[in-house]
Amino acid sequence: MKTLLNEQICAFLEESDQIAALSNVSACIQLTYENINWVGFYFVKDDQLVLGPFQGKPACTRIPFDKGVCGKCYRDKSVQRIDDVSAFPGHIACDCASRSELCVPIIVNGECVGEIDIDAPTTNRFSEKEENEMLQAAYDIAQAYLQHHWI
Ligand code: SME
Repeated sequence: MKTLLNEQICAFLEESDQIAALSNVSACIQLTYENINWVGFYFVKDDQLVLGPFQGKPACTRIPFDKGVCGKCYRDKSVQRIDDVSAFPGHIACDCASRSELCVPIIVNGECVGEIDIDAPTTNRFSEKEENEMLQAAYDIAQAYLQHHWI
């Protein structure tokens, strides 16, 4: 069964405009998760990860595929749940307050088209609960890509 957050995300994904829908999705996650300092999207564009709708301080606009937690998420097409970002070689500190991070790929037709990225100001912030919730969100966003022809 989907959590309330996942149900709310699905409701926002009925909007056909990508920026409008995902702006509300980022706001919804920000309001639901306590103790986070950044949440947003990166999209695969121009052979890079490019900043999408987000909540938090201004962030890096472009991340090469070979850099950072986001780059690893893209290359491995796998969730990166980092308990202590200071122990992750090459972590990109957009906000120096960030201590832990959860990055989840959005996979459409086997290709990573973007990511959900969340930062927290304390170590070990993210558990299997958030990981599973964001995996469900990424799946629902992938369905919206197909339904609304975002690719
Ligand atoms: N920390 C990320 C960069 C994106 S920001 O956290 C918003 C990384 O290492 O790729």
